[in-house]
Amino acid sequence: MAKNLNCLISAGPTREWIDPVRFISNPSSGKMGYALAKEAKKRGFVVNLVTGPVSIKAVDGITVKQVETAEEMRIAMIENYDTADLVLMCAAVSDHRPKFKWHQKKKKIEFPKNIEMIPNEDILEQLGRKKKKFQTLVGFAAETENGAQNALMKLKKKNLDWIALNDVSNSSIGFNSDFNEITLFSSGGKIAKLAFSSKEELATQMFELILK
Ligand code: PMT
Repeated sequence: MAKNLNCLISAGPTREWIDPVRFISNPSSGKMGYALAKEAKKRGFVVNLVTGPVSIKAVDGITVKQVETAEEMRIAMIENYDTADLVLMCAAVSDHRPKFKWHQKKKKIEFPKNIEMIPNEDILEQLGRKKKKFQTLVGFAAETENGAQNALMKLKKKNLDWIALNDVSNSSIGFNSDFNEITLFSSGGKIAKLAFSSKEELATQMFELILK
């Protein structure tokens, strides 16, 4: 049991608003991140969950911080990071946001043909730069092509201990499915293929490997 150890997890999508009624987002349901949070709780961690907008009920005994934008998620993750022993960044964070947000609903006829986008900060990369010796940092890589190559590049660039590769081109797993299939890569060169199963089962297997 992980007594007195803190686990910080992010889950769900972010929303980047264009005007008060329109936003840019992605199909993340939060199921994978919430399954990890439940597993962490079961193993005795004190759990902080930072979540984008999802329709999953809060989990008993877990501190939940609701956020919407990538910047709100970044602030919540940084606030809880220094005391976290294990960090799992499962959220699907928007890489970009509209440069301008209109404060009134844009009428159909005035709606711009092009929306200028600017980059959001990479939260995980920022956490990787601040990582202390006692901390284990785990990221996800949602890929549609060259999965292993891209995941390994992210593992290194973001200074992670582990990365979980998720093939999001397969609609039976990944985004919004109850099931998943993951390949875990460690910074020390370990590779583990976790076969198709429920997100709960995969969360159990991920913790077993990471805590070994
Ligand atoms: O929520 P579900 O429906 O259950 O779906 C689960 C999932 C598919 C969302 C999940 O398993 C998953 O793959 N999450 C990562 C999604 C993602 O944003 O991947 P990425 O390859 O674009 O980003 C790599 C890593 O950097 C991720 O850990 C991401 O959280 C992080 N990131 C990305 C951009 C950014 N601005 N800041 C970040 O921290």
